[in-house]
Amino acid sequence: MVSLKGRNFLTLKDFTPEEIQYLLDLAAKKKADKKAGILGHSLDRKNIALIFEKPSTRTRCAFTVAANDEGGYPTYLSGNEIQLGHKESIEDTAHVLGRMFDGIEFRGFKHSSVEALAKYSGVPVWNGLTDDYHPTQILADFLTVIEHCGHLKGIRFAFLGDGRNNMANSLMVGSAKMGLDFLIVAPKSLWPKEELVEECRAFAKESGGKITITEDINEVKGCDVIYTDVWASMGEEDKAKERIQLLSPYQVNKDLMAKTENDKCIFLHCLPAVKGNEVTDEVFDSENSFVFDQAENRMHTIKAVMVATLGEE
Ligand code: CP
Ligand code: NVA
Repeated sequence: MVSLKGRNFLTLKDFTPEEIQYLLDLAAKKKADKKAGILGHSLDRKNIALIFEKPSTRTRCAFTVAANDEGGYPTYLSGNEIQLGHKESIEDTAHVLGRMFDGIEFRGFKHSSVEALAKYSGVPVWNGLTDDYHPTQILADFLTVIEHCGHLKGIRFAFLGDGRNNMANSLMVGSAKMGLDFLIVAPKSLWPKEELVEECRAFAKESGGKITITEDINEVKGCDVIYTDVWASMGEEDKAKERIQLLSPYQVNKDLMAKTENDKCIFLHCLPAVKGNEVTDEVFDSENSFVFDQAENRMHTIKAVMVATLGEE
């Protein structure tokens, strides 16, 4: 029987395939329960800090609604308005928040910040996105794939665009863990760090998955899922112009979708999207696009993470 009680959720590297599957199953159950009008009490009277150094719509709302649904009390803390890392070290902030809150979500720049919060707060810490990883997003993506493709193992899944951003890294880790046939399709200058690719290839060896890093868009042939993300992530807005030059050949448009030679291939995007850059309106609005199911699933999967690590059920 899987128990994640008291655990942090910083990257999927720290979780076994069974534990990831447990979170996906719990999310599906919580989703079905909510649709049937059943809400839980798993987080009754738990105080939850939501720290945001970077802006957010989905992640902030997902944590807030999920906590409310389970009886918890979320408190939003904007990175600019608390002392975090400015007048006070992350370590001291962690000690203080850990004495008041039962769980802490962090979205920000350095991955080392979320690690320090986890190390010093003494309560479960959940990564709501850092420069390097966005693990709660992957649970929502995988729940959406299961809903529309039936399973994860063996699914051919391509990520196009900035192949070394937090989404590419996290999708590669999650896919390697869960046995997907995963591709990053990106120009060489935006390939992920070799060290992370090797780490993921070791996970894939265990799960029967496969990791391919390529510049060739024709490799999307046979894909079940096409995924993209913004070309310039939060914090790299100054790179936006050069990325348009570099990444235009990797735009997800009708021709790219046709290269999959699979009418049932689904399109996913973590959102927010810059339509006209990484994806055309035509694909975004097509019947193959499930981006809003994905956005909704952020809430159900984040609820599963909080309930599993902090809940009283
Ligand atoms: N996908 C995602 O994390 O969206 P937000 O930036 O709106 O939270
Ligand atoms: N790579 C994007 C993801 C947003 C959810 C960013 O970091 O801005």
